[in-house]
Amino acid sequence: MKTFLVRTFGCQMNKHDSERVTGMLLSEGMTPVDDPAHADVVVFMTCCVRENADIRLLGQVASLKSVKAARPGQLIAVGGCIGQRDGAALLGQLKHVDVVFGTHNIARLPALLESAHTAKRPVAETLDAGDDSTFDLPLEREHPWHAWVPITVGCDNFCSYCIVPHVRGRERSRPFEEIVSECERLVAEGVVSVTLLGQNVNSYGRDLYGAPRFAEVLRAVAATGVGRVMFATSHPKDLSDDTIAAMAETPQVARYLHLPVQSGSDRILAAMNRRYTKDHYLDLVERLYAAIPDIALSTDIIVGYPGESEDDFAETMDVVERARFDQAFTFIFSPREGTPAAALTDTVPRDVAQQRFDALVDAVQRSVVAKNVALLGTVQDVLFEGVSKRDETMLSGRTAGNKVVHVALPDGPSASDFAGRFFRVHIDEAQTWFLGGYIVSGE
Ligand code: SAH
Ligand code: SF4
Ligand code: F3S
Repeated sequence: MKTFLVRTFGCQMNKHDSERVTGMLLSEGMTPVDDPAHADVVVFMTCCVRENADIRLLGQVASLKSVKAARPGQLIAVGGCIGQRDGAALLGQLKHVDVVFGTHNIARLPALLESAHTAKRPVAETLDAGDDSTFDLPLEREHPWHAWVPITVGCDNFCSYCIVPHVRGRERSRPFEEIVSECERLVAEGVVSVTLLGQNVNSYGRDLYGAPRFAEVLRAVAATGVGRVMFATSHPKDLSDDTIAAMAETPQVARYLHLPVQSGSDRILAAMNRRYTKDHYLDLVERLYAAIPDIALSTDIIVGYPGESEDDFAETMDVVERARFDQAFTFIFSPREGTPAAALTDTVPRDVAQQRFDALVDAVQRSVVAKNVALLGTVQDVLFEGVSKRDETMLSGRTAGNKVVHVALPDGPSASDFAGRFFRVHIDEAQTWFLGGYIVSGE
């Protein structure tokens, strides 16, 4: 086993786990490749949050059948949330898969690959709960200047529609000192931007006796000298005044908050087990805009939850109108086996859900454009990431509000001279998905 390829689906947690898988395989002496036809090991880090994520994975793994036939000895491993959910059953379903592992035993991947390789027999291993040893695994970061830093793993919220608590386990917080010392080390290594990760970062520390809460984590991480601190995800029921204050008073903390609302209807929110109301959400939004006028707000919204009426949906549209989102991830409800919502029978017909979805996307788009247009003529702090994926003559970066900005690459320097550095950019173009502008000054 000399070469490997990791394919990642799903959320930032999975992306971060993939960095650990890559780090482990590199430290085994293996070399990464881009083409599965040249890989001795292909690892899929999977997501099952909605049905289409499931289907995509099955398609991708199935399409490797002929690649594998042409490369005898190739090993295919399926990890992440589908691995955790299905375990050994996946081996029956996908006959050419060699290794199945879960979210709690990433560290076991090299040993499982070795065992499948020597025994020439597929192997599946998942654990019901994890220890914290994954925090100590080697990892290979996608960018040298950015790091994901998990502060909690798992989720205790059990929203009625959601599979995540079932595949990621109970919520556990990492010790405060460990988070801060990791960030200090990262800064010393040249990291300028960190993203604190957790399914619900706002509940950080609840399981650790006497531990500081999330606002203190924010302040302490900002004090390590890092240029930008982002975090995701925030649950509206746990977003404290102190966290809003910490965001407002700490310039290193991004002017960006991802605050999933899911629905605007109190009835549906209760059915979803979200434990807040529309008014509570909108009140949080107003407090955020008052404390941090330039904050960019993003959200997640589900339409077509069982029992959702036209009136319920109208409440969701009203939230979109009033919250003035900068970004929204919109989904049609997808029943996930094993969750309470999957057993509900008053389902919304597919065409009705689709109509609502389309209307929602239009409303979101209007909101996003209005927020972007309002930035015309302003000067933003942009952290450049490198050359734009669509146009090699453009640099691409992000504002403190997490908006993508494209700037023409100046004559002389190369894109890599800009990657991981902050510049002041005058905004002179506002599109739905990006802003345009020009550099006015350096770091
Ligand atoms: N912990 C995060 C992320 C959860 S998954 C959070 O609480 O926000 C990301 C989003 O997927 C959720 O916010 C929700 O909007 C959506 N989602 C989760 N399960 C879903 C389902 N069964 N059907 C449709 N959308 C779903
Ligand atoms: Fe899922 Fe709710 Fe937990 Fe988010 S907070 S991961 S939506 S159960
Ligand atoms: Fe998907 Fe697992 Fe994340 S189900 S959204 S990859 S926690």
